[in-house]
Amino acid sequence: MRTREATAERGKNAQRGTDLEPADEREPGTGQDRDGNRATDQGRVTDQERIAERLLRSTAARSYDPELDINWAAPPEPDKVFLPPHRSSLYGTSLYERLSPQQRRELGKHEAASVAGTGIWLEFILLRLLANLAYQGDPASRHVQYALAEIAEECRHSTMFARMIEWMGTPRYRPPRLVQRLGKMLPTVAYGPAMWGAILIGEELTDRYQREMVTDESVQPLIRMVNRIHIMEEARHIGFARAELARSAAKLSRAELPYHRALIGRTAYIVARNLISPEVYRSVGLDPEYAHRVALANPAHQETIRFGGEKIVAFLTGAGLVGAPGTYWWRKSYLLP
Ligand SMILES: [Fe+2]
Ligand SMILES: [Fe+2]
Repeated sequence: MRTREATAERGKNAQRGTDLEPADEREPGTGQDRDGNRATDQGRVTDQERIAERLLRSTAARSYDPELDINWAAPPEPDKVFLPPHRSSLYGTSLYERLSPQQRRELGKHEAASVAGTGIWLEFILLRLLANLAYQGDPASRHVQYALAEIAEECRHSTMFARMIEWMGTPRYRPPRLVQRLGKMLPTVAYGPAMWGAILIGEELTDRYQREMVTDESVQPLIRMVNRIHIMEEARHIGFARAELARSAAKLSRAELPYHRALIGRTAYIVARNLISPEVYRSVGLDPEYAHRVALANPAHQETIRFGGEKIVAFLTGAGLVGAPGTYWWRKSYLLP
C-alpha cells in the first residue's frame, strides 16, 4: 500500500541513488516460475505472464509518488544548471560562445523544459497505446494488469514533468500541430513491432540523457530527483516493451517488415527532431528559425542525438527493424551516421 511514510522512505532511497540500475528489469524473459504465477495458454504459464508477474511485483515494491517524494517548494539553486552545457543544442557554436553564462543557463533551462514537454506528449500517446492493449486483452491476465500499472506510472510521470516545467517557470513547449496530429494517428496505424518500437524510441532516448544527468552534481537537485524516479520506473517499462517487441517481431511476415521499418524510422525522426523546440531560442533573444538551423548543423548536437539513440538503435537493429525503407529517416534524424 502506498503510504506517506513508505513513500518518503522510498524517496530517500532514490535520493541516495540506490535503485538506479535495476538491471534485472532490463533483460526480461529469464524469470523463474514462482508462487503466484497464473497458468495460461492451455495450462502453461507463458513467458509473457511470467514477465508481467515479475514486473508487477517490482512495481508494488518500488514506485514513487512525485507529489510526496519531491520537494516542489524548494527554489532553483542559483549555482546549478538545468541541463549540462555540453547537451545544449548550440554548444560549441559561435552563437553559443556569444551568449553570457546567464544566457547559457537560461537556454539550458528552456531546452530541459522542451524535452519534458515533448516527454509529456509522448507519454500521452503511450497512454492511448497501453489503453488499447488493455481494452483488447484479458483483464485477469498479468499482462493486462501490468499495462494498467504502467498507465498509472505514466500518469504520475506526466504530472511530475508538468510540475517540473511549472517549477522552472518556462512556457509549456510542445511539438508543432502537424506533429501532434501524426502522434494522434499512431495508435491507429501502429501495431506489433512498430508500436513497441515507437514506445521504446520515446522512452529510451530520454532515459539516456536522464541517466547521464542523475549523477551530475552541477545539475539542479530537483531535476536529478525527477530523473531518478523516471529512470527507475522506466526500466520496467523498457523491459516490458523490449520483450513485447521481440515477441511480436518473431511473428512478423516478410511482407509486413517494410511497413514496420518505415513507421519506426519515421517515428525515430519525429522524436529526435522534436525534443528541442525552436521556440526555446527566444528565451535568449535568438531568432528561432536561424538558431534552429545552426543547432541542426552543429556536430555536437548531432552527436548528442546519436548518444541518446545508441542503445535503442542497437536493439532495433538486432531485431531487424532498422533498414530500408526506414533508413532515410534514421539518417535524417542523426540517430544513424
Ligand atoms: Fe514515463
Ligand atoms: Fe514509460
